[in-house]
Formats: sequence, structure tokens, C-alpha cells
Amino acid sequence: MKNFGPAILLVILFIGSAHSQSIKSSLNPTFDSKVDSILRLMTLDEKVGQMNQYNGFWEVTGPVPQEGDAAVKYAQLRKGLVGSMLNVTGVENVRAVQKIAVEDTRLGIPLIIGYDVVHGYKTISPIPLAEAASWDLEAIRKSAEVAAEEAAAAGINWTFAPMVDISRDARWGRVMEGAGEDPFLGSRIAYARVKGFQGDDLKAVNTIAATAKHFAGYGFSESGRDYNSVDVGTSTLYNDILPPFEAALEADVKTFMNSFNLLNGIPATGSSFLQREILKEKWGFKGFMVSDWGSIGEMIPHGFAKDGMQAAELAANAGSDMDMESRLYVEHLTALVQSGKVKESVIDDAVRRILTVKYELGLFDDPYKYCDEDREKTVTGRQDFQDAVLDMAKKSVVLLKNEKQLLPLRKSGMKIALIGQLAGDKDSPLGSWRALGEPNSAVSVLEGMNAFPGNSLEYVEGVKFTEGTPGFAFETKINTTDRSGFEAAKNAARNADVVVMVLGEHGFQSGEGRSRTELGLPGLQQELLEEVYKVNPNIVLVLMNGRPLIIDWAVEKIPGILVGWHLGTQSGNALAQVLYGDYNPSGKLPMSFPKNVGQIPVYYNYKATGRPTNPGSDLVFWSHYMDSPNEPMYPFGYGLSYASFDYSNLKLSSDGFAKDGSITVSIDLKNTGSVTGKETVQLYIRDLFASVVRPVRELKDFQQVELKAGESKTLSFQITEKSIGFYNNDGKWIVEHGDFKVFVGGSSQASLEKDFKFLEK
Ligand code: NOJ
Repeated sequence: MKNFGPAILLVILFIGSAHSQSIKSSLNPTFDSKVDSILRLMTLDEKVGQMNQYNGFWEVTGPVPQEGDAAVKYAQLRKGLVGSMLNVTGVENVRAVQKIAVEDTRLGIPLIIGYDVVHGYKTISPIPLAEAASWDLEAIRKSAEVAAEEAAAAGINWTFAPMVDISRDARWGRVMEGAGEDPFLGSRIAYARVKGFQGDDLKAVNTIAATAKHFAGYGFSESGRDYNSVDVGTSTLYNDILPPFEAALEADVKTFMNSFNLLNGIPATGSSFLQREILKEKWGFKGFMVSDWGSIGEMIPHGFAKDGMQAAELAANAGSDMDMESRLYVEHLTALVQSGKVKESVIDDAVRRILTVKYELGLFDDPYKYCDEDREKTVTGRQDFQDAVLDMAKKSVVLLKNEKQLLPLRKSGMKIALIGQLAGDKDSPLGSWRALGEPNSAVSVLEGMNAFPGNSLEYVEGVKFTEGTPGFAFETKINTTDRSGFEAAKNAARNADVVVMVLGEHGFQSGEGRSRTELGLPGLQQELLEEVYKVNPNIVLVLMNGRPLIIDWAVEKIPGILVGWHLGTQSGNALAQVLYGDYNPSGKLPMSFPKNVGQIPVYYNYKATGRPTNPGSDLVFWSHYMDSPNEPMYPFGYGLSYASFDYSNLKLSSDGFAKDGSITVSIDLKNTGSVTGKETVQLYIRDLFASVVRPVRELKDFQQVELKAGESKTLSFQITEKSIGFYNNDGKWIVEHGDFKVFVGGSSQASLEKDFKFLEK
């Protein structure tokens, strides 16, 4: 036996077997000292190993590979040169890699196992953009909790979510993964999702560590093209991009992930301004920063590092603690410390952070705590998970238009034509980033509607807009020529009282690497819609989408429009229940729907130009387009209900307040419709003039309220300094005296307003 007395002792200690209890309790109980005691035992190579994260590399249930890349990684794992793995899933596989780390390496330090559990593990929730449309923070927290419990039961203890990148550009495919365009809503959701994943007790077997990503600026990729450069001013950085990250930190998020993009010429991965100055120093973040996949190496093609050695040096010194798959840390950090280019204290700090999170997860007490085969069997796909994702899915649907009271559909005595490839699709609703959601496991709209048997339902695809089966790794070909299904669709529509058309994007048309320049209905779907309209205009259009789409023609012609996003496993049930009125839609858009691509980026909280309005003559010299209005098709915060709501009586408790004071804002809300409905009441503020110009409106609060038909309620909000302050261009939070407006209503175009002042005492 090798003579590593103290190390072995610690291993026994940390594995937490019953016989080690007495040794454990005799040790210094403080947590830092435990981490320090491990650090003292580690060689430099072993420390660097903790900073190295590999992608899953072999079929653990099969033979260990003898050669190639996997063999190299496997040998490094045995030597304690791997601190974390990602994309290893399932108890059997996780146990196998953990066993090597714990039982075969010198110090037996457990691995932390990461995976992109973005909106579910096997039971899939709506995509995060859809969840954001619910504005229901409790349901969003619950959805993350379900994902965490199911993933934890399958061996995972760390998710690379939530993505909290604010984005105003629907061309960017990853908008599906975030909470939309608004920093206030985005912050509340970031907080809720971190709490959902991590729970109150990270040591529990059903919670996992979360990641706030991508730090920072990724959502502002120029032209919406993924991985593209980001150039934003300090005002946008501090007031729009960073707040959701700060909210995640308030929720005690354990890890951050940096991003692929340059931010003002510096790769985020090599930015000590972001990672050290802001995150670790100013905000006091104690967890660790993982790089994005290969992003350390990508600093070479960016033109920031001349080679791998320099990339590792720049990233480590800038505060990237763990290297996801570029392998440059494990290759170069030891030499960089020996040559003095990276201080050992930098390495110690990173390793201390990583070990701390492992400790907090309870991995040192029991490295196999997530590896219980029985739990995996009983937890996966549990009925209460299905109920939670169905609830989330219903709350995510947004009603954009409902003319002629076409919706909700009557439950009997009608002939309905259901048209569209997506209506029968059991895969697309799972959306992008669907983790281990089984292909074709979602409830389709067809199946959901069949659960309401009172009407006669005829389903026709109409057109196949994709050629072949869409998949994660490949571009899917879009059909632009085959119209052979049009006639059948038209015949079905001709015979129907109402036509439900499910059109939009397939599940992999949004997500990472899925930027698009045209945001209309892909392929021949628009043409099909227009053809069907000619024979029966009583159409309800159900969009399936991972981003805002351009639907100008439909908005003009089609009487009923629902945004159905990619709603996950229970998609079809949720949509059918909304169509039939068993659930009254309550979603509000978390991102503006543009009128055309040329308007993008279009968002509600823009800053006024010096020439904001039409001067009234033939003059063209004001800030506008010659061929399009400035306003989007549907603004942030917009969404209808089968009920209708009347806002009145906006009152302020006073027309001014001073330091440490507040104003109470109240509003009367009445349900003027004939059914119970839920409204999201939104409060916006405008700072009329300031040392740094403020947006024309900023969301500062919201409340959800359910009212019976005819019922009224008075709602109140508080305006405090927090509602009116902002970050100046040095990143300092300031509150300035002056004049403000408050607006309350059901969207960012809320029309009731009042003035108030923030007074000098
Ligand atoms: C790259 C993505 O940008 C990131 O969000 C994800 O977590 C990693 N790949 C790991 O899959």
C-alpha cells in the first residue's frame, strides 16, 4: 500500500462512512479549515486537476477505452487531474466515474457532475422564454425544483442554468433560454430559478447547484448572430445586463459561467474587469466561475491570446476558475505557476472555491449521495412532475388576439379542422436544450384536443415544412417546394366551423447556434395559412415558437392568435385546455414581437432620441423609418385573457417623497368580462431627466391578481428609492432628485399615469 497516511485518512473522513463519524467530529468543524486542510495535501498538479472539467468520454458501462482521446482523459481522471465532468448522466454512469475519482485517485476528491438541465431533465417544462411569459414566479421556481429533483435522482449535482442573459434581438436563437428583454422581470426570474434548483438546503438529495450564465453580455451579440462580438456602453452593462446576475447571486447561486463573446474588445473569459473586479471583489461572490465550452481556447481565434499557454494564463489570472473542455489548464497551468506567470495563490483561490461548492453539496460527506438506483427509478417522470409542468405550460400561453369571440372553443357540436405539421408533432414541443427528454415524448396538440371528444376533429398536416427529422446537431432542411398537402388542408377547412392551425418553428430552430435572419413562419407555412384563409377565415393560429416571430399578415387577418411556444412534455394538454377555456390564458410577452426584422432590436425600455416625434410637416428629419412604424407588433408585457380588465382611479399617496420615504400607488382593477380571469398588473416608471438619460419606461413592479366576472379590487404598490435609482457610468448606484412619471396597466404601453417628485429634504 502506498504511504499516503494523512491523505487516506481524509478520504475516509470525507466519504462519511459510519465508522468515520468519530474522527469527523474531532476535527476543526469550520468549513474553511476543512477546505484548507485538503488544499495543504494537494500537489500543484492535483490543484490544477480540480480546475479541469471534461465532457463525458466513454461508455462507462462498457470496456474502458485503451487508446485515443478518451484514454488520455481516463488516465488523467485516475491521476486526480479532473475535478468535474459534464454530460455524464444516469446513476450507473455517474457512479462509475465518481468511483474512480473517489477510490482510485490519491486524495479521493469527488467530482462535481454538471449538465444542462435547462427546462427539465426527462420531464420537460416549457422553454425558459415561455416560462417567463407566465410572470408567475412561484410556478417558475417550482418548475426548476422539479428539474433539480429529477436530475439529482439521476446522478447530476450541478446544472448550467439559469441563463440570465437579457436580449432584445429575436434573431438570436438563444432567446429561448432566457427570460426576455427586461432586467427587472429577468432579475425576479433569475432569483426564482436559482432558488428552485438549489432549494433551501444544498445538501439535500433533491437539490443541485445552479449556474448564472453567461457572464456577461452574450445576449447582445451583434446582429443576433451567435458567438458574435458585443459592444455595449456602460449604462447598458450596469443597468440591463448585470442586474439579473446580481439577483442570482442574491439567491446564493453557487457558480457562474463566463461567455464566448468579446465585451468591448476583451473576451469575457479573459476579463478580470468582469470576473474579478465586479463579480468577486465588488459583489463578493464566493463560488466558482466555470468557463464556457472551450472558451479559454477561443481566445486564440479571437486574437487575444497568441497560443494555448497564454490563453490559460490570461483566463486564470482573470478569474476563470474551471476550464470546460479546452484542456489548456491541465496542459499549462503547472508550468505557468512554475514560471511565475500565474501565482500559486490564484490557483489556491480557484481550488478553494471549487472544493467549497463540492463541500456545500455534501459530496465530501457522501460522494455517492446522488447515486441511488432506486431513487432514480421512483423519481423519474413522477406524476407530480407532470402536474407541475402542465401547470407551468398553461400559464405560459399568451393570447395575442381574439376577435369574434372565437375562443374559447365550444366543447360540443362543432366541426374543427386541425392543420399543421406541428399540430401532430410530439417532438418539437420539447424545444431546444431538452436535456434527456425522450424524442417524441411530448403530448401533441392533436392528442390534447382528442381529450375533448365532444366535437368532430379532422387533422391534416397541410404541409411538411421540414424535410427529414429535425435533430440537435444538424441544420434541418426546410421544404419550399412541396405543396401537395394544401388541397387536403383546404378541404378540411371548407367543411369546418373553426380551423385551428398550429404553425411556427420546429423544436431545434431556436437554441444555441440557431440564429435566423428571417423570422416569419418557416417554409411554406405562411402560404398554407393564406390558402386556408381563402376558404375559411375562422382561424385560430397557435404559434409554436422559440422566439418572437414576425406575423404581420396573420395579425391583420386572423381572428384568433395564441403564442404556444415550445411548452414541453405536457404541451398538447396545456394548449387544448387553453383552447377550450378550461384554463383562461394569462401570459404576457416577456419580449416584444417585432413588426419586421428591420426594427430589431426593438424593445420597450429604449432611451428617447433628441427627435422622438413627428414634427408634423413633411419633414423627414426625425427618428423613424420611412417604411415601418417604430413600434413593435406587440410590446413587452402584452397579453389578453378571455376576461377583460378595466384599469381606473390611479392614485398616489403623495406627489413627492424624500430619502427613506415612499409613495403608495393604488389602482382599481375590474374584471369586465364574463369569466374569471387573471391579470398581471404592471408598474412602470420614467425618470424625466437625469445625469445619464433613463429609458422612456422601466418596469419596477408587478402583481398578479385573479378576479371573478364583475369583481373589482384595489391594488397598491410602493415606490421607494429602489424604484427610481440607477447605475451611473462608473457602475455606482445613485438616486437623483427630480421629476418622475408612474404608469400602471396591463402592458408596457400602460396608459394611466401620474407625476411625482423625489425631493431634497
Ligand atoms: C455551451 C453553452 O454556451 C453553455 O451554455 C452550455 O452550458 C455549455 N455549452 C455546456 O453544454
